Amino acid sequence: MQLSHFELLKPVCPVCRAQTREPKQLILNTLVRQDTNNIIEGILCCPEPACRHEFPILDGIPVIVPQLRPIVSGWIDRIRARDSFSESLESLLGDCCGSGSGFDDERQRRSSYTWDHWGEFDPAINKSVGQITSPGAIARLLKQGIDLFPKKLSTASGPGLDMGCAVGRTTYELADHLQRPVVGIDLDISLLRRAQQIHASGIVEYPLRRTGLAYDRHTFSVADQYSQTVKANIDFWCCDVTALPFSDNLFSFTSSLNVLDCVHSPLTALQEIERTLEPTGRCVLASPYDWSTSATPTEAWIGGHSQRTDTKGSPATIIRQLLNSKEHPASLHNMHLVNDMKNASWQVRLHERATMNYSCDMLAIEKLRQTNK
Ligand SMILES: C[S@@+](CC[C@H](N)C(=O)[O-])C[C@H]1O[C@@H](n2cnc3c(N)ncnc32)[C@H](O)[C@@H]1O
Ligand SMILES: [Zn+2]
Repeated sequence: MQLSHFELLKPVCPVCRAQTREPKQLILNTLVRQDTNNIIEGILCCPEPACRHEFPILDGIPVIVPQLRPIVSGWIDRIRARDSFSESLESLLGDCCGSGSGFDDERQRRSSYTWDHWGEFDPAINKSVGQITSPGAIARLLKQGIDLFPKKLSTASGPGLDMGCAVGRTTYELADHLQRPVVGIDLDISLLRRAQQIHASGIVEYPLRRTGLAYDRHTFSVADQYSQTVKANIDFWCCDVTALPFSDNLFSFTSSLNVLDCVHSPLTALQEIERTLEPTGRCVLASPYDWSTSATPTEAWIGGHSQRTDTKGSPATIIRQLLNSKEHPASLHNMHLVNDMKNASWQVRLHERATMNYSCDMLAIEKLRQTNK
C-alpha cells in the first residue's frame, strides 16, 4: 500500500459503514515492513471505540472488507502458499491435483486474465500455435468506454477507481488516461498479488494454458510500457465493490468492467459507484450479464428473470431504467446515461483452442453536478 494513496484515499471503516455508524478514517496501527513509500506488511485499525476492527496489509495489499474472516479464511491457502515453483514442478503439482482442483482453478484464472491483460506485450505470444483471438480485449473495452464520453475531461479532479481489476491492466490504462492516482480493487487476493508483483518488478511471469493440465511458462518485461508517473500513480487494494471503504464524492472516474454479474448485489454495487463518484465524475460500466446463482441470488439479478413483465426480463432495459430517475423504484437519482454501446466485444481465453466470446453492454455514466439527497 502506497502511503501517498493511503493519505489521498483516506479509507474509512467498512464495518462501521455496514452498521450505519458514521465511519471513521482508518489508522495505520502497526507497521511491520516498509519499502520507502510502500507499506508491505502492517495492520490498519478503526479508531471507533465501539468497533476497533483490524484490517491486514499483506504483501503490500491492504484488505479492507467488512467480512474479513470469511475472506481471509477462504484465501488462507493462497495467502500462505509458496509463490513460485519452476515450470516443471508446477506442472507436476498440477497433474497431481488434477482438473477442477483449487490449484488448477487458480492457474486457469491466472492464465486467462494475464494473457488478456498483458499478453500483447509478450514477444513469444504469436509463436504459440492455435491462437484464435488476440490478447488485449479488456484494454480495448476500456478505451471504447472512455471514447463514449465527450473528449473534454470533466471538472471532477479526484483519483480514479478500477473495480474488479484482476491482474491490473485496466488500472494502468486508467492511470494513463487520467494522469492521476488510481486504485485497482478486487476481492481475489491471488490475482491482486500478481498485479502487485507485476507493478513492483515490471515482469510478467505466468502459466499460459495450452490444453488440459499442460501450461507453458511465459516470462517477459512490461517495464517500459508505461511512464514512471503512471506507475507511481497506481496501487492495488483488496476491497468489495458492494462495500467500498471510501467516503462519498471521492473519485473522478470509475471503471467497472465485467464485474456487475459477479457480485451478490449488483444494485448495491451501482449505489456504491454513485455514492463514491464526485459530482460530474464519470463511470464506464460494461457487463455481458452472464448471471450465475453461484455469485448472485436470482432475485438480486437486474433482469435475467421475470420475462413476463414489461421489461421482458432484459437487463439492458432495467439498467437504463435505473439510470433514469423516474423510471424505476430503485433508480439512482444522481446518475445519468451519457452514451452507450450495446455490443462491445470481450473475450476470455480458456486454452489454445477455446475462447469465450462475450457481447457486453457498455454504459458511459455521469454523476449529476447538483446531487439530490
Ligand atoms: C469476470 S472478472 C473480470 C476481470 C477484469 N475486469 C476483466 O474484465 O478482465 C471479475 C473480477 O471481479 C472480481 N470480483 C468479483 N466480485 C467482487 C467484489 N464483490 N468486489 C471486488 N471484486 C470482485 C473477481 O475477483 C474478478 O477479478
Ligand atoms: Zn469501524
